[in-house]
Amino acid sequence: MFPVLIELIDRQIRMEFEAAYFYLAASEAMYQKGFTGLAHWLQKQAGEELQHGMRFVSYVRNRQLAPVWEEISPPAFNNNCTPAFLFRLALEHEEAVTESILSLVRQAQELEDCMLEQFLGDFVAEQREEEESVGLILRRLEMARNQPAPLLIIDKEVGESR
Ligand SMILES: [Fe+2]
Ligand SMILES: [Fe+2]
Repeated sequence: MFPVLIELIDRQIRMEFEAAYFYLAASEAMYQKGFTGLAHWLQKQAGEELQHGMRFVSYVRNRQLAPVWEEISPPAFNNNCTPAFLFRLALEHEEAVTESILSLVRQAQELEDCMLEQFLGDFVAEQREEEESVGLILRRLEMARNQPAPLLIIDKEVGESR
């Protein structure tokens, strides 16, 4: 595999595990505030991100290589932040991940690595869905502002979704 592709995959692995770390911290922050539905949803998200990271790790192994492990940044928020603030960060995070995956797809196409391009197809679709679901929750949280009653309704519904 071309070195530039290996480097981009290492970065992708780091971003997926960083996303898991972010969602887990976000889940704890929401739990502390009493938003158990949002906390549950965010924790499930953390589990999915771990699986994404692991799929990239297996892919690297399938190609007879080993990842170079990058440093994972801590989440950039404190436990006092609002649900809307957290979901805004989550959306920005997902958008950065999408951009990273698309740049990987473009490089794979340019270097004619069809195997990698095919592997990435699932992730492109996945990112579209994740941006949609995070964006939808964010819009509803922004509508509710800081009113406890609507926030608790959203919390309950999100906790029961999927
Ligand atoms: Fe992911
Ligand atoms: Fe994601």
